[in-house]
Amino acid sequence: MHNPVALLTERLRAAVAGALGPEFAGADPVVRRSAQPRFGDFQANAAMALAKQVGRPPREVAAAIVEHLDAGELCSAVEVAGPGFINLTLSADALARAAAGLLADDRLGVAPAERRRVVVDYSAPNVAKEMHVGHLRSTILGDALVRVLHFAGHDVVRQNHLGDWGTPFGMLIEHLVDIGEQEAVRELSVGDLTGFYKQARDKFDADPDFAGRARQRVVLLQGGDEASLRLWRLLFEASKVYFNTVYDRLGVLLTDDDIAPESFYNPRLAEVAAELEAKGLAVVDDGALCVFPPGFTNRDGQPLPLIIRYSTGGYGYATTDLAALRYRSLELQAGRILYVVGAPQATHLAMIFEVGRMAGWLGPDRPAEHVPFGSILGQDRKMYKTRSGDSVRLIDLLDEAVERAAAKVAEANPDLDAPTRERVASLVGIGAVKYADLASDRIKDYVFDWDRMLAFEGNTGPYLQYAHARIRSIFRRAEASGAGGRPPGEVVVSEPAERALVLQLLGLDEVVAAVAESLQPHRLCTYLFEVASAFTTFYEQCPVLRAPDAAVRGSRLALCELTARTLALGLGLLGIDAPDRM
Ligand code: ARG
Repeated sequence: MHNPVALLTERLRAAVAGALGPEFAGADPVVRRSAQPRFGDFQANAAMALAKQVGRPPREVAAAIVEHLDAGELCSAVEVAGPGFINLTLSADALARAAAGLLADDRLGVAPAERRRVVVDYSAPNVAKEMHVGHLRSTILGDALVRVLHFAGHDVVRQNHLGDWGTPFGMLIEHLVDIGEQEAVRELSVGDLTGFYKQARDKFDADPDFAGRARQRVVLLQGGDEASLRLWRLLFEASKVYFNTVYDRLGVLLTDDDIAPESFYNPRLAEVAAELEAKGLAVVDDGALCVFPPGFTNRDGQPLPLIIRYSTGGYGYATTDLAALRYRSLELQAGRILYVVGAPQATHLAMIFEVGRMAGWLGPDRPAEHVPFGSILGQDRKMYKTRSGDSVRLIDLLDEAVERAAAKVAEANPDLDAPTRERVASLVGIGAVKYADLASDRIKDYVFDWDRMLAFEGNTGPYLQYAHARIRSIFRRAEASGAGGRPPGEVVVSEPAERALVLQLLGLDEVVAAVAESLQPHRLCTYLFEVASAFTTFYEQCPVLRAPDAAVRGSRLALCELTARTLALGLGLLGIDAPDRM
C-alpha cells in the first residue's frame, strides 16, 4: 500500500536527517492537510521547532530540508512558505496511484495498529429498572468505539457491567413474590420495568411490613440462600430478555457472552478488601473499611473515602468496581481499559482508578480511561423527558424514530416497494438516532431534535446514507444504459474536484487512528460528512455517465466506487447500515 502521505512523511524524515544531521533522524516532520489549496495539498510544519533546536533561521532550515528531499515522483511542487512551512503538492500520478491502491484494499488504506487488548465497559443497565437515555448514549458510543478499535486492529473485549446486585433486590424480590412469578416475569420481559420498580419502591416506602421483608430478603440473598437466589435469577433473566430486545433493535454487537454483571464479582469482594488491607491502603474508619486516595476531598476539604466494606459487613458499588478493575487488568490481561459511563460518575471512576494504581493493578502500560459523555436535553434545554414528565423509554424512542423515518422515506422515494421501504425506514430511523448521538462532541450535552436528526441535508445519518445510495444508483443506471458500470476503470486525476475528492478519501487511515486514540467518534462523522461534500462537488463538476470518453467515465466510476465504499465502511464503524437504495 503506498499511501503518499506516509511516503512523504518518510522522505521528509530522511531529508531532515540529511539537512541537520543523523541525530535528527527521529524528528517528526509534522505533515498536515493544507488549510487552503494555495498552500499545496499538505504542509510540513517541523522546520520552526527544529530551527530553535539548531539555532538557525526557520526558513533556512526549511530550505535545507527541501534541498535534501527526494520527492520526485510524489510531488509536482515543493515550496518554502511563510515563516518556514514546506508546502507540498502531490502529482496527479501519485494521486492516481494512491486511489488505485485504495481501490485494491479492503481496508481502504487503514493500516493495522499495534495490537492491544482493549476492555470496553459500556451499556450497563440495571436489572428490573428501565434503561434511560443515558444508557442509550453509553450503548451507542460504546458500540461505535468497539467497532473502530476492532477495525483498527485491536483485540477488543466487551463487558456489560449489568447492575444486578445490591439492596434494591430485597424489595424487588418481595414484590415479585407478591404479584406472582409468572406475572413478574411477563412484566419485565415485555419491558414494563418502570412500573415494576415503582410499585416495589412505593410499597417499600409506605408499608413497614413490606420494608421489613425486603430487608430480610437482602440478608438471605447475600447469604447465598438458594430460594432467594432462584427468585433473583428470575428477575435477571426476564430483564435480560428485554435488554436483548433493545440491543437487537439498535443493532449493537453486545451478546449474552459480554455480560459480566456486578454479581459476577461477588465471590471476589472479600479478597479485594483483604488485599487492600494487606497492602496498607484500606483503613477502618467509623467501623467501615475505607480507602482515602490522595487528591480527593469533599466540599469542606475533608478526604473523600471510597467505602470498601460497610460497618454492617456488606460491600457496595465501589468494591464491585475495584474487583472488576482488578479482574480486567490481571485476569483479562487488558492493555487498556475503557469505561463508557456518563460524566456524573467521573469522580467515582477517578477514585477507583487511583486506588487501582496504588494497588498495582494499573500502570502506564495498562491504563484505565473514563470515556465520559454529556446528557441528552429536550428542546427546553432540560433533561429529555416525555410530555408527562417521565424519562423516555429507549424502546419507545426507537419506535418513534422508525415511524418518522418511514414517513420521510415514503416522501423521498414513493417508488420503493413496501418491504424495502420498511427495511430502509428501520435503517434510517435507527441510523439517525445513532448518528445524532455520535456526531456531537460526546462530552457536551446535546439537544434531541427529531427534525434535525432526520433531515436529508446537513451533517446527519440520513444525508450520508442517502449520499451512499445515490452513488449506488449511478451504478444501476450505468448498468441499465448498457455501457456497463463495472469493473471501474483506471483512475486519472485531472480536475480540481477529482483531486480534492481523492485527497479526502486518503484521510480514512488518519481519522480511524485518531478515533481509536482519542475515543471521539464525532471526528469520523465530520470526516464522512466531508467525504460526502467533496463527492457532491465532484459530481456537480465532473459528469460521470456523460463523461467525454470511456476512459474518463471509467476513472470517474472508480472514484464513485471508492466514495461509496468509504461511506459504507465509515458508517459501518459507527454501527450504521448503508442501504443500496432509499
Ligand atoms: N449500572 C450503572 C448505572 O446505571 C452503570 C455502570 C457503569 N460501569 C461501571 N463499571 N461502574 O449507573
